[in-house]
Amino acid sequence: MATTQQLEVAAPGPAQHYPVTIAHDALKNATYWQPVLATVNTVLLVSDAMVSPLYQAELVATLQQAKPGVVVIPYTLPVGEGAKQWHHAHALLTLAAEHNLTRQDAVLALGGGVVSDLAGLVAALHHRGCRFLVAPTTVLAMVDASVGGKVAVNHTLANNQLRKNAHGTFYSPHAVVMDTATLSTLAPAVRRAGLAEVLKTALLESTARHTSGAVHPWLNRASSMLLNTLATSGITDEGMPDTIAHCVAIKATVVALDPTESPTETPAEALTELGDGGSSAGSPRMWLNLGHTFAHAYETLTEGALSHGDAVALGLLDAAAVSVAMGYLPNSQADALAALHQQLGLNHRLPSGCAITPAAMLQAMAHDKKQAGATRRLVLPMNTLGEVTVTSQVPDGLLTEVLTAQLHRHARG
Ligand SMILES: NC(=O)c1ccc[n+]([C@@H]2O[C@H](COP(=O)([O-])OP(=O)(O)OC[C@H]3O[C@@H](n4cnc5c(N)ncnc54)[C@H](O)[C@@H]3O)[C@@H](O)[C@H]2O)c1
Repeated sequence: MATTQQLEVAAPGPAQHYPVTIAHDALKNATYWQPVLATVNTVLLVSDAMVSPLYQAELVATLQQAKPGVVVIPYTLPVGEGAKQWHHAHALLTLAAEHNLTRQDAVLALGGGVVSDLAGLVAALHHRGCRFLVAPTTVLAMVDASVGGKVAVNHTLANNQLRKNAHGTFYSPHAVVMDTATLSTLAPAVRRAGLAEVLKTALLESTARHTSGAVHPWLNRASSMLLNTLATSGITDEGMPDTIAHCVAIKATVVALDPTESPTETPAEALTELGDGGSSAGSPRMWLNLGHTFAHAYETLTEGALSHGDAVALGLLDAAAVSVAMGYLPNSQADALAALHQQLGLNHRLPSGCAITPAAMLQAMAHDKKQAGATRRLVLPMNTLGEVTVTSQVPDGLLTEVLTAQLHRHARG
């Protein structure tokens, strides 16, 4: 059986740190849940229609063993991104009020990033913040969504346009308990989508290590870089807990530098941040956006036909191609990235029938909410894999040329 990994993640506010536990069969083991439930008498347990029949009963039994008498109120969301809507948050807040949840009671998310984003917003709002616990069950939720404190719902406009994560806040969990055994029931496409975020995280490890004054202690102890692990042994079931711990430590390092994603609202501010040349390591939290400006455009233009992780997988290839064209990344490193991408089995194609033009991409990228006014900022890999830069210097003409070639590639698959 794999060993248990314990990490601490820094958080803003009075708690300052929260524990992340990574263990096989953690949902069945009351010892992981006893400290987490110390103040809790009632748990609002949020899951979705796929995860709840698989894992809810065993988690409820474990919670009741860890804290005899604890009251568990289950709420099941429909499956998928469409569930991340305000009316579900409202229904959960009604339940919280009806069951008199106090600030010491907990909202517990059991599921993927959709469940934890929505449940976290509910926890942040109820009595201006009750306890928020996360038991992530997808690769993406373990390596990314459950750590860092971003919680949100989507907003669908009257014309049916989806604004992802339109309303949300920063609210860190009080504890995260990851059971790696739950990954065994993931559909291959869901697992693959999560691995795109693993590759993204590996591609910014060097920058996170070298720019940060205080690297997460787990990263200091971990002997090899994540990229090296991915390239040499890939991701085996046995290696998964270490890979997840590595990703959490990299994200924790970045988040600690910039817990609430310091905004650069105006082009002037963005350029000051970027320095005279328009390129720099940038605001740390922005590094996590590597490949995502392209990915968000793909998600918008395919109207949800592409999952977030699969869109990120395309975006990483696009970011590398732009970086080569800018002279930031040698061809050999772009080839190494493509080889890793292939080895991990990441998505490399647009859904069939999706005709996307470079002009539509540029327009969708301009609407990305991470952009600073009219200034387009891109996070690009540079020099050698593991390093990133943030730049506002990519001209429209060059971007159009690269996207023309990339869209052609993605269409062929
Ligand atoms: N807050 C953040 O920092 C952050 C970061 C990245 C992504 N996100 C958000 O996360 C969401 C995507 O998360 P996701 O990829 O986990 O999607 P998801 O929550 O929709 O889960 C994907 C699918 O897997 C199923 N599933 C989950 N766990 C399972 C298991 N163990 N076995 C079988 N099936 C299982 C779900 O029912 C769903 O059908 C998006 O809404 C995205 O915006 C948030």
